[in-house]
Amino acid sequence: MKTKNMITIGLMAGIHFLAHAQVGTTNTPGVVDLTKLANYASQSKPVYITRTNTPVANQITNAGATLGRVMFYDKRLSRNSAVSCSSCHQQANAFGDTALASTGVSGSTGRHSMRLVNAGFATESKFFWDERAATLEAQTTQPVRDHAEMGFSGSSGDPTFADLVTRLSAISEYRVLFAMTYGSATITETRIQNALAQFVRSIQSFDSKYDAGRAQASDNQPFPNFTPQENAGKALFINPPGPGGGAGCAGCHVPPEFSIDPNSRNNGVTGSIGGGTDLTNTRSPSLRDMVGPNGKSNGPLMHHGGQATIADLINHYNLIPGDNTNLDPRLRRPGGALQNLNLTQQQKDQLAAFLRTLTGSNVYTDVKWSSPFTASNQLTLIILPESAVKMTRNPNNTLTLQCQAAAGLNYRMESSTNLKDWVLMEQVASGPTGVIEKTVPIASNATFYRFTYTP
Ligand code: HEC
Ligand code: HEC
Repeated sequence: MKTKNMITIGLMAGIHFLAHAQVGTTNTPGVVDLTKLANYASQSKPVYITRTNTPVANQITNAGATLGRVMFYDKRLSRNSAVSCSSCHQQANAFGDTALASTGVSGSTGRHSMRLVNAGFATESKFFWDERAATLEAQTTQPVRDHAEMGFSGSSGDPTFADLVTRLSAISEYRVLFAMTYGSATITETRIQNALAQFVRSIQSFDSKYDAGRAQASDNQPFPNFTPQENAGKALFINPPGPGGGAGCAGCHVPPEFSIDPNSRNNGVTGSIGGGTDLTNTRSPSLRDMVGPNGKSNGPLMHHGGQATIADLINHYNLIPGDNTNLDPRLRRPGGALQNLNLTQQQKDQLAAFLRTLTGSNVYTDVKWSSPFTASNQLTLIILPESAVKMTRNPNNTLTLQCQAAAGLNYRMESSTNLKDWVLMEQVASGPTGVIEKTVPIASNATFYRFTYTP
């Protein structure tokens, strides 16, 4: 079944008002108000967060991330309109999946889904467990083009990516969203990639217990808000292995972002969901938000989901179970033997307690990262709110109409003498602030004016 979407266009923002109800607010489910975009572009982040893989050419804009949000949650980006990015990357699980393998349009994934929280805050700019996507932009349409995941592969009887572009071009709200973001309604793969990447990079989580401590002390000092157990775990995480030393995690999962060191090789986790050996996995998502605010796991860990709990994962690093040709040398002891940290149970518990301080709370509930669709896949875009029209009577017998509209769109200024037949007077561009303004003569009592938008 095809999903249905509609656009609500403000009508009759004229001199003589007709009664119109306000359609909704930014926080109404199923409604996105393009005249009051959520803040994605200038979110505050802690001063100590400096790593980024955002390219100069694709900085986050509020319009672009809004378009990315709609596409991230739109099932029509899959062949049979059954799967969206959010099917496998759920906000409630830090944009990961509690399933070991995620379900796509034709079968399930060969690797475990990755949490997307803080994906943009890293020096590593390649994506996927095996880093096969050169950039996040390049990554975003690979699931769409994947036969199993979203099914616009162009092979095995699948439609092509061009078919998806044709499908989206026929949907009026995408014409509005692309026009608002890029200045024209044309849909291309690059435009889709850039907007999806902007949305993904906007997903940030910096309100953890760790952040509250890090704001007051450096990583090498005890945090005043931590328990002794958490502080001991932090020291273990940060200090390199060796006599009396730590577990050396920070060498590859670099604080304060806890993003992967770009030069990491594999960590000795060599299994695969489908069986067999996989030595290619050299990337980890940020270690933040492995568990949710309630302490519940956001999904099994590692590319094969083989470590179900934090305790399992610590046991892996405590004693690397087997050698392989792509094992990172940092996981060997001097002389080449495999790492054996000899952690006591108390130390393992300390490390686990520290890893649990890396969890935030806002990212799980903030509406701007949630689905813009209703449960029945409806979406309403507010393009022109009737209530926002201001009229000013000028001394020279003219009237100025002003309206807070969506930025970057071309609206129509129309007039009518009978409220039935409307004539285009001119196009009014809203510009970067979104305000549209027009001064008209007060010619006759029988002239009506309105702003409209035609997608
Ligand atoms: C059917 C499930 C599924 C769907 C649908 C899906 N993903 Fe994923 N995603 C995964 C899996 C599994 C991985 C890890 C795959 C791998 O590394 O081989 C992944 C990895 C990623 C990564 C890499 C994260 C990192 O840190 O390297 C990003 C980004 C991402 N997905 C974004 C998206 C976007 C955007 C969409 C929608 C266009 C999407 N995904 C659709 C399952 C899915
Ligand atoms: C030599 C580099 C290196 C070191 C040191 C290292 N890791 Fe990793 N870590 C990786 C790589 C690479 C992956 C991705 C592995 C995979 O799934 O195949 C990973 C994955 C993980 C994951 C899974 C993340 C997820 O989202 O599923 C966790 C958790 C983790 N490491 C924690 C630790 C801890 C705790 C330590 C210290 C005891 C540590 N790591 C030491 C490189 C390293």
